[in-house]
Amino acid sequence: MDEAWGKLEQVESATLAALFADEPDRVERLTLADAGIRFDFSKTHLSRELATRFADLASAAGLEARRDAMFAGEIVNPTEGRPAEHSAERGEGAPASVAHARQLHARMRTMIDAIEAGAFGAVASIVHVGIGGSALGPELLVDALGRGGRYDVAVVSNVDGSALEAALAGRDPHATLLVIASKTFTTSETMLNARSAIDWMVHGGVTDPFGRTVALTASPEVAIEFGIDETRILPFSESVGGRFSLWSSIGFPAALALGWDSFESLLEGAAAMDRHFRLAPPERNAPLLAAFVDRLYSNLRGAETRAIFAYDERLRLLPSYLQQLEMESNGKRVRLDGSPVGRTSAPIVWGGVGTDAQHAMFQLLHQGTHDVPVEFVAAIEPGDALDPEHHRQLLINCFAQGAALMAGCAADDPNRAYPGDRASTTILLDRLDARTLGALIAFYEHRTFANAVLLGINPFDQFGVELGKELAKRIDNQSALDFDASTRALIAHAFGDEP
Ligand code: F6P
Repeated sequence: MDEAWGKLEQVESATLAALFADEPDRVERLTLADAGIRFDFSKTHLSRELATRFADLASAAGLEARRDAMFAGEIVNPTEGRPAEHSAERGEGAPASVAHARQLHARMRTMIDAIEAGAFGAVASIVHVGIGGSALGPELLVDALGRGGRYDVAVVSNVDGSALEAALAGRDPHATLLVIASKTFTTSETMLNARSAIDWMVHGGVTDPFGRTVALTASPEVAIEFGIDETRILPFSESVGGRFSLWSSIGFPAALALGWDSFESLLEGAAAMDRHFRLAPPERNAPLLAAFVDRLYSNLRGAETRAIFAYDERLRLLPSYLQQLEMESNGKRVRLDGSPVGRTSAPIVWGGVGTDAQHAMFQLLHQGTHDVPVEFVAAIEPGDALDPEHHRQLLINCFAQGAALMAGCAADDPNRAYPGDRASTTILLDRLDARTLGALIAFYEHRTFANAVLLGINPFDQFGVELGKELAKRIDNQSALDFDASTRALIAHAFGDEP
């Protein structure tokens, strides 16, 4: 791998203008379409030579073998001794795991049918408590596809009581379904929010709050200890990682709010992208090309961040979803064998919604000193029923920004000059529906995995989140005497002698 990286580092860079001038077929070569999505990588600095060298790196890194091992349900997360079987949830994986996922989905569907048949009494709203992967996925799905839907869904993640308080305000505890989502069922924020939500039901006069509570977890025995009846637990497999779990029972609030057919379409769209990632050749493989582009900016051009702008209000939560997916997966400093990565791993992912971001952040993108590869995500069909002019203007703005970043503009006054030669990728959905969103999210999952392979790291563990949790426990247990002077002073100032 080091040799392949060495060769990449020797490739001379060319400007976007030169690349377009030299390659008449550049747009065709770097644009591909599958599963209702068109990916245009042509406005990046991925030259023909770089694409070839990156393909060599992928071979040297054993991409095919690692990809096949993942889909076959082998242990690809060696630090935790687990496979990574999120694709089995959508029917692409080891046959036994696919069959198991189907059984668990059937159980989920039975629960949804029961709720709809009135088994839980009146249900007008859903309060979903969970954090990280147990919140971001369902929240994205409901926000993107469930507007004006059948249930009023609130997703609460923060332990800050203000979040839960706001979610519960105005809701009827007798008509609310509480959903507790936690793979481990031990995450302190979620457990505290769950207890407070149950207290709220009790204070609201609900005599059997656990009768209105559903648990989504890979640790059913812990949920039972918490007080949830076995019949109201929707399990999922330990081999599905938290940030890859929206396809499992963690997607329950979305399946309930959007309807089972939509949830199935979501899985089908993701399965179509699974097949694309497995079968498309490297030069026509969207997740792989995207990973080449990511590595090009992070490792060959020194970019520290990557920005994603959804030119679609329904995808406003996509950047935060991707922050966990990419930064928790690939924000690592050692390789699978424990040796240092030796190069920048995950970029800092940030972003927002177009056109709003144009009036806030785009100054830096056009004239600032940072090199930021930008990604635009938009849909051709509008999501609103207003004057079509709204959607037309949205797309026009999206395309104009990509063109402006690339072309720049000379001016005698340096304050008014735009350097240009700034990269962007455009991802254009035919329409934002469950199927296409499933494919889009699966694209990002595989891109994250492909990046990890090119870096030689394990994207499926997250030990970096543990130390802070441990220290919070020590403060909680008042065993914080050996903390640094600053932290001791903060604790004393906030809590006095007893935190
Ligand atoms: O602390 C990080 C993390 O473990 C994430 O990886 C995970 O998605 C989140 O916490 C929530 O974990 P759980 O689903 O077990 O509550």
